[in-house]
Amino acid sequence: MQTAKLTLGEQTVELPTLEGTEKELAIDISALRAKTGYITLDQGYANTGSCKSEITFIDGERGILRYRGYDIEDLASQATFPEVCYLLIYDKLPAPQERENWRKQLTQHSLVHESMLNFFQHFPPTAHPMDVLSAMVAALPAFYPDENDIHLDIIRLIAKTKTLVAIAYKKSIGEPIVYPKSDYSYMANFLRMMFATPAEPYVFSKTLEDALNLLLIIHADHEQNCSTSTVRMVGSSHASVYASVSAGISALSGPLHGGANQEVLEMLEAIRKEGSATKKYIAKAKDKNDGFRLMGFGHRVYKNFDPRAKLLKKSCDAVLAELKIDDPLLNIAKELEEAALQDSYFVERKLFPNVDFYSGILYRALGIPTNMFTVMFALGRMPGWIAHWKEMRDNPQERIHRPRQLYVGSPQRPFLPLGERK
Ligand code: SDX
Repeated sequence: MQTAKLTLGEQTVELPTLEGTEKELAIDISALRAKTGYITLDQGYANTGSCKSEITFIDGERGILRYRGYDIEDLASQATFPEVCYLLIYDKLPAPQERENWRKQLTQHSLVHESMLNFFQHFPPTAHPMDVLSAMVAALPAFYPDENDIHLDIIRLIAKTKTLVAIAYKKSIGEPIVYPKSDYSYMANFLRMMFATPAEPYVFSKTLEDALNLLLIIHADHEQNCSTSTVRMVGSSHASVYASVSAGISALSGPLHGGANQEVLEMLEAIRKEGSATKKYIAKAKDKNDGFRLMGFGHRVYKNFDPRAKLLKKSCDAVLAELKIDDPLLNIAKELEEAALQDSYFVERKLFPNVDFYSGILYRALGIPTNMFTVMFALGRMPGWIAHWKEMRDNPQERIHRPRQLYVGSPQRPFLPLGERK
């Protein structure tokens, strides 16, 4: 590989370069400060790689997303979410016996400690489910002390998160909680825990289970996004997987990240209430003084299309048709997409629908309330967070993350006694 030559005044340093599996290129600046005294500055890390990873590959220009080398389109159409969890975490699609053992372990650990239910008594019904989920995941080690068995912790997190999500939902609507059943699949168990009531048993729907399976698979990982980088950052201090994932849930809650799916629905609702004011909202998004952004549009990496948005758009049409749901918000979303993709502001900035743009419409079709959308994103992203935490902790070269900074504050100042302060 060629080296990168950097000339600073009289000094020229050579830095090694690296090439990834898919020919991505990087300059290794690990020795830069020692050699030159300089650090680099890269607002938002748009040009900075934090690690080498074998988990997910994204090509933003070609709209490629692969988990451990498998195209998202193949996984979305042929795999189950529990299989994708296993693939992301253990780098292989489970063989039949592995798949059965994994299913049994996930089922066996689906219950949460009864004392944890007390927490839910004291969250106000208005508590945002993301805040509840982050708190409950952080509380798990209190009830499941460290047995130095990371595989068991992984099983517990994957198995119990869906139960915690369902309990949070039931508590927020004042309905009795529904316990998981060991003869139900991951999807059926979750939908049953969410929607069965003492009066109405859950009616199986392959359409709904398939739609949920797709939603969780396409959210399962996305390399070094904000929340996954947070999990790796927190995990680099050797904090537990529970503490690291809890921090990832908090990062995901932000409206620029996972919180966008809830914001998309609220935006579509606002447009509908104003009589399909699509043009008005496009104009607002372009107006720098307005501060409004078209939620569900744009992406740091995808600069042509988000393959996940394409899969979701197709699923929306199929699911809504099969359920005979005529959701006006889907029509508004399509109008908005069409208008934006013909507008030079969005085309020049390569702002296309991202994963959040259509996911909310599918969640609605599943009967999931808007304030639970980001929690559903977290449920899907759980295996990705865990896989990155494990990859980092399994790597003996990993060090605690400690970026540098450029200090631009006050120069040294003498202390001012109280009487002399203005
Ligand atoms: C996710 O990283 C991941 O992989 C994330 C994710 C994952 O799976 O983990 O894919 C999930 O978080 C998807 C993104 C969900 N967020 C939204 O939909 C919120 C709306 N989108 C934007 O806020 C924005 O596009 C981001 C946050 C997604 C990306 O931000 P960047 O890369 O920092 O881009 P930027 O803010 O520098 O914007 C570049 C230009 C700016 O205009 P100029 O200053 O050049 O004139 O594009 C404009 C921005 O104002 N712009 C938008 C816009 N997004 C960017 N203008 C209007 N509407 C938007 N949505």
